[in-house]
Amino acid sequence: MQIYNNRNRKLLNADKLSHHYIKIVYFCGSIFYITMDLLIPDKVHDETRQGEALILEPVGKTNGRKLYIESYGCAMNFSDSEIVASILAEKGFETTSDFNSADVIFINTCSIRENAEVRVRNRLKEFAGAKFRNPGMVVGVLGCMAERLKAKFLEEEKLVDVVVGPDAYRDLPNLIEQVDGGQRAVNVLLSREETYADISPVRLNSNGINAFVSIMRGCDNMCSFCVVPFTRGRERSRDAHSVVAECKDLFDKGYREVTLLGQNVDSYKWSGQLAEGAEPLAVGDEITVVNFANLLEMVALVSPELRVRFSTSHPKDITDEVLHTIAKYENICNYIHLPVQSGNSRILDIMNRTYDREWYMNRIDAIRRIIPDCAVSTDVITGFCTETDEEHNDTVTMMDYVKYDFAYMFKYSERPGTLAAKRYADDIPEEIKQKRLAQIVAKQQEYSFYRMQARIGKVEKVLIEGFSKKSDKDYCGRSDQNAMVIFPVSENYKPGQYVNVLVERTTSATLIGTIVG
Ligand code: 5AD
Ligand code: SF4
Repeated sequence: MQIYNNRNRKLLNADKLSHHYIKIVYFCGSIFYITMDLLIPDKVHDETRQGEALILEPVGKTNGRKLYIESYGCAMNFSDSEIVASILAEKGFETTSDFNSADVIFINTCSIRENAEVRVRNRLKEFAGAKFRNPGMVVGVLGCMAERLKAKFLEEEKLVDVVVGPDAYRDLPNLIEQVDGGQRAVNVLLSREETYADISPVRLNSNGINAFVSIMRGCDNMCSFCVVPFTRGRERSRDAHSVVAECKDLFDKGYREVTLLGQNVDSYKWSGQLAEGAEPLAVGDEITVVNFANLLEMVALVSPELRVRFSTSHPKDITDEVLHTIAKYENICNYIHLPVQSGNSRILDIMNRTYDREWYMNRIDAIRRIIPDCAVSTDVITGFCTETDEEHNDTVTMMDYVKYDFAYMFKYSERPGTLAAKRYADDIPEEIKQKRLAQIVAKQQEYSFYRMQARIGKVEKVLIEGFSKKSDKDYCGRSDQNAMVIFPVSENYKPGQYVNVLVERTTSATLIGTIVG
């Protein structure tokens, strides 16, 4: 398998969006645009991967047709594109990196904020020329925007032939046939059961070291600002044994890090039994009700050489049992993404987050007590409906309390159909949202730098991911706490191996050091 990452086009797109970003930095093989909308790039919502096209080697039988698929949004969407590509590869589609030569173009979309949708609409315009030259081409919209807009998409975008929601990907071959027959097609049915557990996803990662493993789908939380419960449906957990089997298979293929993905991993719950005659894959496999702590343990036991990460945790659900499990296993990384959204209890209440400021602080205290060396990152929304300056200040003081390692910070963007859109006016003027955002972005930069500086003189265990972008004389990889680490290449170590690196200096986003063994 190889990956095509059309960097030139992305630079072009980013150019068009230049008012959104403030700085370009080079990290481990990638260019990151640090935007006012998304401060620090991570692997869960990675700016550099927005619009990335997926290429696979043919699986054998081909039907002579070429598929082009590109993805936007969160890691779950990228993981879903791998499932879509697997389903169509089975039907003989080959993939291409050039949409002009494709027979089928799919765009896997995100609805979380308005600007994510604008980006997709603009991209669709760029497909119009290709479709004009090849009228037989099928253009499909997948994912959250497809689910949100349903058949309306077909009215609004004449170019689009097929609209498919996140639970309907198994129907794609039929839908394509329908379009071949001259009709336009829609399937946006949401499911209470679909987890695609039996589909073995093809891997996007070209480095063969890190992989995402989806453990659940949907979300039942109904945070008032969020469109996800409407676009991804009810929460359901994937068969624990299939999760462990996928991680084991990845490990056997040489992968050394898995990130377990879900909108709210702490509410993972699966009941069932090992299939008759199947061999337990790990200690605990015979358990019939598996919660997130159990699942973490089962995956950690695949091998001590396999690093386990997870995202996203919810403050109302993260238990001490989960924290003790992280502390117990050296290979479960000491890094928790715990979105706070706001530091003010009244705002949290109208956001329907179901916890208050004190509860969140209590969870932070528990993390510090049980896993003293744990990095914590967060998501923050500024300018939510009715937020006063004093209430905003509670978010600022929460940042002072936690001193987050990273934060993803957003201006509130009203999403049609959400509880907030129905109940509250989006009444904070744009300039105030922007001012509050700029204030917390500046504050976070200080704390990110502070956290990085605290690592100077320490030895970090780093999983080597490859050469650094700037120089093939340097390797890059991540520390247990998820910090990017750069250090000179040593012939004794290769990507996929662990090394101990003594940190000598830092930027606000990178640790720089040398191998000490
Ligand atoms: N406006 C701004 N940010 C949002 N998020 C979710 N919905 C919205 C919205 N309507 C942010 C939250 C969430 C992250 C994935 O995106 O902070 O945790
Ligand atoms: Fe949206 Fe809240 Fe679910 Fe996260 S937990 S996906 S913010 S509804």
